[in-house]
Amino acid sequence: MEVKLEARAKINLMLDVLGKRADGYHELSTVMQSITLADTLVFRSAGPGIVLRTSHPRLPVDKGNLVYRAAEALAEMHEPLTGVEIWLDKRIPVAAGLGGGSADAAATLLGLNTLWNLGLTMAELRQVAGTLGSDIPFCLSGGTALATGRGEIIRPLPALPPYWVVLVTPPFGVSTAEVYRQLQLTADTAHPQTEGVVRAIRQGDLSGLIPQMVNVLETVTEKVHPEIRVIKAGLQAMGAAVSLMSGSGPTVFGLFTAREKAAAACRQARKYAGTVHLAQLAAAGVSPR
Ligand code: C5P
Repeated sequence: MEVKLEARAKINLMLDVLGKRADGYHELSTVMQSITLADTLVFRSAGPGIVLRTSHPRLPVDKGNLVYRAAEALAEMHEPLTGVEIWLDKRIPVAAGLGGGSADAAATLLGLNTLWNLGLTMAELRQVAGTLGSDIPFCLSGGTALATGRGEIIRPLPALPPYWVVLVTPPFGVSTAEVYRQLQLTADTAHPQTEGVVRAIRQGDLSGLIPQMVNVLETVTEKVHPEIRVIKAGLQAMGAAVSLMSGSGPTVFGLFTAREKAAAACRQARKYAGTVHLAQLAAAGVSPR
């Protein structure tokens, strides 16, 4: 038997950090949005054990990869009758603020739930997902959602209008843990107003939403990598309704209402070091392929 899934990247339409928690994580309030940029995963029944292969030459294929850890977590809990061979076709930039590893892990939980006929409910999968990583519960369902707590408490929101997304990923990875370590919240930190953002999305009020799209982690990543600010301003000058760093970065995205404008911005954005992708908003995090 074989299951083939698409695992979609996410962007953060706003991200606020409220403070540090006793468990070492940070209390978040963030609006996450799935986009069509995606990895493909194929799960095939096989002899005993978990074998992971990937198109990306530098990705680990053992416990260092969230896909492997997700498969192992399910196998330990449910003792499936077969092993699995997993093929991961990687297109989402790695360590880029786009949640690619989390999306792959979410797809693995869903794919193996089907392949191994485990019958786990979404609530049960979300629970396992939360133990593997903070963004994985969102990636299981995807679409548009408010995430709070560590990022694992998900409240679905209505879809945004059909924006085009231009993504510019500078040619270096960023460690999320390191960005949180360097974050210093002071009285001067500009915090987005979560309730205002949620209200604007619920009311379909984009002119109200756009000025509130702030990512508190930009303050940290921009300091080390000033090109992030340059790319943000560049995407705005190219006609983006708004531009923002995603997650802990370094990817910067711009939202465009017209496809031609977005395509033209993609061409212009090739002047920046790194990679450029064009995507659309997506209504789900994982889907059959
Ligand atoms: O949960 P995940 O493993 O994806 O998080 C990566 C790192 O980011 C954590 O080890 C932690 O240092 C930091 N983090 C945090 N607060 C969160 C989410 C992540 O401090 N809410």
